[in-house]
Amino acid sequence: MCGIVGYVGARSAQDVVIDGLRRMEYRGYDSAGIALVHDGRLASRKRAGKLGNLEKAISEEPLPASELGLGHTRWATHGAPNDVNAHPHLGATGRVALVHNGIIENFADLRARLEADDHVLISETDSEVAAHLLELQVESGVDLTVAMQRVCQQLEGAFTLVAIDAQDPDRVVAARRNSPLVVGIGEGENFLGSDVAAFIEHTREALELGQDQVVTITRDGVSVTAFDGSPAEGRRFHVDWDLSAAEKDGHDWFMRKEIFEQPRAVADSLLGRRTRSGQLQLDEMRLSDQELRDIDKIIIIAAGTSFYAGMVAKYAIEHWCRIPVEVELSSEFRYRDPILDYSTLVVAISQSGETADTLQAIRHARTQRSKVLAICNTNGSTIPRESDAVIYTHAGPEIGVASTKGFLTQLIACYLLALYLAQVKGTRYGDEITQVMEQLEAMPAHIETVLAGSEAIYDLAREHVGTRSFLFLGRHAGYPVALEGALKLKELAYLHAEGFAAGELKHGPIALVEDGLPVLCVVPPEGRDQLHDKMISGIQEVRARGARTICLAEEGDTSIEPYADVLIRLPRVPVLLQPLVAVVPLQLFACELASAMGHDVDQPRNLAKSVTVE
Ligand code: AGP
Repeated sequence: MCGIVGYVGARSAQDVVIDGLRRMEYRGYDSAGIALVHDGRLASRKRAGKLGNLEKAISEEPLPASELGLGHTRWATHGAPNDVNAHPHLGATGRVALVHNGIIENFADLRARLEADDHVLISETDSEVAAHLLELQVESGVDLTVAMQRVCQQLEGAFTLVAIDAQDPDRVVAARRNSPLVVGIGEGENFLGSDVAAFIEHTREALELGQDQVVTITRDGVSVTAFDGSPAEGRRFHVDWDLSAAEKDGHDWFMRKEIFEQPRAVADSLLGRRTRSGQLQLDEMRLSDQELRDIDKIIIIAAGTSFYAGMVAKYAIEHWCRIPVEVELSSEFRYRDPILDYSTLVVAISQSGETADTLQAIRHARTQRSKVLAICNTNGSTIPRESDAVIYTHAGPEIGVASTKGFLTQLIACYLLALYLAQVKGTRYGDEITQVMEQLEAMPAHIETVLAGSEAIYDLAREHVGTRSFLFLGRHAGYPVALEGALKLKELAYLHAEGFAAGELKHGPIALVEDGLPVLCVVPPEGRDQLHDKMISGIQEVRARGARTICLAEEGDTSIEPYADVLIRLPRVPVLLQPLVAVVPLQLFACELASAMGHDVDQPRNLAKSVTVE
């Protein structure tokens, strides 16, 4: 997720772009850059780090006056967060500048073709490939709009592209597929932005673009086509949000916005994971297939929500790969004198990549000659830098302290790791792996289905204002979901909430159950050994003692109905993948209850987004 601004009009393009980037820094802050058209040439600056670094570079070497330009704040996906990988990227002759948000899945093939034609690409990014392709088209004699149409027909994946041509001082051209882009409509000026925060201080008249569309803005107007050049239309709307709401896409909290971003985040985390031949490929796998085949034990280390992602991973890896998996709290790991050697793979899961407990744990593992693989959402952070291999999640910046899209994309990365290991070790056939990948690729739609039922969950949450204690029950892969649901309530509503393995209740915790106690139950899909029936037994046990059972069960499961005081329906998905849909109602419940209690949902008391102390 990145922040993009484009402008053409009578104002200083530099001022409009920099101000727009500042209001979108929450979309990415690994680097920032700007490009302007002046006297038939491009003037560009870009720097790693926050926007202030770019502003300092401009103050040291000012840019020429210009009324047309673009800018970008980056959240790194492909390529480390440094100056070279920062956007804008230029074409071979420096005539075209381009910024990009998203993932171009076929960039490696396109890059190889460009390099075979003696193009020299200096960055590690997929975006620079698009800049070279675009300039090739412009140099062939077509205008920037036609050039963009032609390039978009070559690209696969999710992308928002915005570009300018040094020899065309009157237009900025953009395109989108599965990635956000809106037009700000002014008088004698027009704007482009990843969201309305880019231009809201200048205009509240906006145009939302549809899928696979190219838009051209000039001082005099806006025109929209499809990728094939045929006329198309966007959707006009008036922005009535204030700036704060604009940054949250109209939501009241970043956390709520991030809950609703999960379909996109999951889809983006699955992009580019398969080669043309259907083989799985991971971001930075610096471990050979043989090293992976030699792995005979996996230890997953993480903290908090990431630890619960690791618990789900255990079920998946052991089932698909038949490798024993231990899941360990980072803060406990190195003090128990763990048994590690070169055939142990330590998997560190961390959204921030800076959690001190996890960082110290992987450092300990490496002293024991173990290989370390990081699953991380923050490109270039310490934990992936100190690991042998990395799977990056593509959730974009997670601003809310309580992790939501970070968790779901960690699950995706864990499933990908399990499938990749199964592919390397041959414990699953290619068609079995393909089948699971197709099930994963259907998940964004399933998550959307759950999100469509959010109002009922909000009503349920508000009913519980004043309730002081909650239990969460789950079995198998639903057990970590119960733990995560309890954690969300603890950290947001500051309430007593405990997650249990449902089978553990009778060994003590059931003494907690009293009249009216809400118990949220994650019910496994039917028809898979006795998990479902055993779960119902546990639900009967708590109901018999007065509990109010709030059951999350798949569509069509009628046998749960007599035992559910409240029934939240989930899409039918395979048992191992059910956490991807089951956790969403629990996120919504905790978010709404905390909000109804008047708490700061994005920055709960006593908590930090990244715990960089042990
Ligand atoms: C999640 O809601 C919490 N904010 C917290 O448990 C978090 O998951 C934990 O601190 C680990 O952070 P990391 O993923 O950045 O390592």
